[in-house]
Amino acid sequence: PLVSTQQIVDSARARGVGAGAFNVITLEHAEAIVTGAEQAGAPVILQISENAVKFHGGRLTPIAAAAAAVARSAAVPVSLHLDHVEDTALLHQAADAGMSSVMFDASKLDYDANVAATRAAAEWAHERGLHLEAELGEVGGKDGAHAPGVRTDPAEAAAYVAATGVDALAVAVGSSHAMTTRTAKLDHGLIGKLREAVPVPLVLHGSSGVADDELREAVAAGIVKVNIGTILNVAFTGAVRDTLRDPSLVDPRKYLAPARVEMTAVVRRLLTVLTGAGDA
Ligand code: G3H
Ligand code: ZN
Repeated sequence: PLVSTQQIVDSARARGVGAGAFNVITLEHAEAIVTGAEQAGAPVILQISENAVKFHGGRLTPIAAAAAAVARSAAVPVSLHLDHVEDTALLHQAADAGMSSVMFDASKLDYDANVAATRAAAEWAHERGLHLEAELGEVGGKDGAHAPGVRTDPAEAAAYVAATGVDALAVAVGSSHAMTTRTAKLDHGLIGKLREAVPVPLVLHGSSGVADDELREAVAAGIVKVNIGTILNVAFTGAVRDTLRDPSLVDPRKYLAPARVEMTAVVRRLLTVLTGAGDA
């Protein structure tokens, strides 16, 4: 069934497990992610990024409607999240498009401008019953523009959450967006300090580059929502590439089907790691 992100995050936090949030670009992503979640017996968050909306010609509604339909028919709880929104015009489409949460990304702004923009976004979201996630301290790698060494300061994070009223905080603790190898080293001590300092759930971005044991340790230290994108596309595109070696193949279903299967397996395995349910 379709549920709210707040519900999935609250329940994960209460149980001391991670909540997996996976990036949806196409219908096949939504299908693979939900099937993987069903196989793992875990709730899942489908997230659509501002970049994915741009890929769909700037239109959120079609891909959001497809993801919502897949979510409604799922055997596990599934929520819809709008990810990395910098454009307030897109933020303002979130409620009508059926999103229950938004990550508003003002992390490129300086501290005061970030606080002002994020507080306004949170007020708008709360008037509509939406959950708002924000970011302090850039998680490296997005657009290749940020320094991977940036870290979120616990005292600043506490002040930021109090000043903005956000419901969840994305933190910079050593991960980096768009990694295709799982070699990131996280600062688990810092995650623990952030958990102590900040009342809202912590979110790890760029989790594709984080290996299983590091993910387990991060959840144990206090990360709740775990955002994963690139590693799905590594599996999906790898399968497409393999299948397309056959030059007689023209039906897209012939390469999309095995790609979707590979993506499903990655999601099932990662959710098993995050929720500690059996062997990954
Ligand atoms: O918000 C999305 C995530 O941070 C995904 O990052 O593609 O590096 O796993 P990733
Ligand atoms: Zn991210």
